Amino acid sequence: MNRFDSITQKLQIQYPIVQAPMLGVTTPEMVAAIANEGGLGSLPVGGLSPEKTTELIQKTKQLTQRPFAVNLFAHAIPEVDLAKASQMQDFLVGLGKKYGLEFPELHLETLSFYSYKTQIDILIAEQIPIVSFTFGIPDDEWLQKLKASGAILIGTATCLEEALLLDQKGVDMITAQGIEAGGHRGTFLETIPLPQVGVMALVPQIMNRIGKPVLASGAINDGKTIKAAFAMGASAVQIGTAFIATTESLAIPAYQQAVLTAKDTDSQLTLAFSGRWARGLQNQFMTEVEHSGFTPLPYPIQNSLTTALRQKAQQLNKGDFTNLWSGQSAPKIHLPDCAAIFRELIRQAELTY
Ligand SMILES: Cc1cc2nc3c(=O)[nH]c(=O)nc-3n(C[C@H](O)[C@H](O)[C@H](O)COP(=O)(O)O)c2cc1C
Repeated sequence: MNRFDSITQKLQIQYPIVQAPMLGVTTPEMVAAIANEGGLGSLPVGGLSPEKTTELIQKTKQLTQRPFAVNLFAHAIPEVDLAKASQMQDFLVGLGKKYGLEFPELHLETLSFYSYKTQIDILIAEQIPIVSFTFGIPDDEWLQKLKASGAILIGTATCLEEALLLDQKGVDMITAQGIEAGGHRGTFLETIPLPQVGVMALVPQIMNRIGKPVLASGAINDGKTIKAAFAMGASAVQIGTAFIATTESLAIPAYQQAVLTAKDTDSQLTLAFSGRWARGLQNQFMTEVEHSGFTPLPYPIQNSLTTALRQKAQQLNKGDFTNLWSGQSAPKIHLPDCAAIFRELIRQAELTY
């Protein structure tokens, strides 16, 4: 017996370590590598089409017999302000021309988005045992459907108030995402300024109020930080940035290199890429948008507007014009693949049993 038995039994894993879902970086190969090593792999499908969602789940199932989590974006979809979208698109087209990154323009009138509501039936049909979500809480009807399927539900909170709302809605576990974390903020409360609570402040405050397992997330990337999270009482840790520079990752070489060499101060919160606050390594695109005088459109509209330019930059391996999501702490373990990093994390955290 050890103190992690309850969480590992619930999640049907061996070690209380979760590979963070990282849309744009995580592949089925990454999820399967972690699952096969005894951790919880998380497959991100936020905003993807039903067809792509099914394809990724089935691919992952081909690579591992173990359970894995699927991660959704639980946000509402806003109306498109065509005038503002057109202004932003014109600005981005100009930017592309200036830097040799020409891209095809979108037909703004036909812009459409996929909601998590088109994905939940797929997750249920695929018998996904663990569903995590961020950017909000699925509407009651959908939450009940997921619960009735028997799936374990993990919600994301960036402050205590969000955690309390998740608890009231009956989620099984809460990921406490500290401000250190790479990628999008999971924030969904719009009534207060953006929560910027560090993981060390967030985890104990949630634990003091909610008697459910808390997964600590943000700047955890070696044995010492894993042990620190467990010393605070976290039931498990969710680790992202540490797995970006790996063979299983979709990150382009320029991104992988930038993450490996990043300093503590290199990342910033930005709205520039997607219209939703996210932490990434400061680059020219962020500066250009921030100095443009144009306000990024709400998520996911801005995200769609910038997609073609980012794809072009990725094709050319230009890290200056694509999102370099990364946390405040660069990877400390430099090994080529996810399984090797995972094994080293287990060794350093003295979790071998
Ligand atoms: C590249 C990248 C993409 C991310 N995409 C998602 C996502 O699709 N869903 C999600 O819940 N969290 C996402 N996150 C946030 C992670 O779940 C997690 O909170 C974060 O990686 C933890 O901090 P760390 O990067 O310092 O380990 C992403 C993070 C990164 C770095």
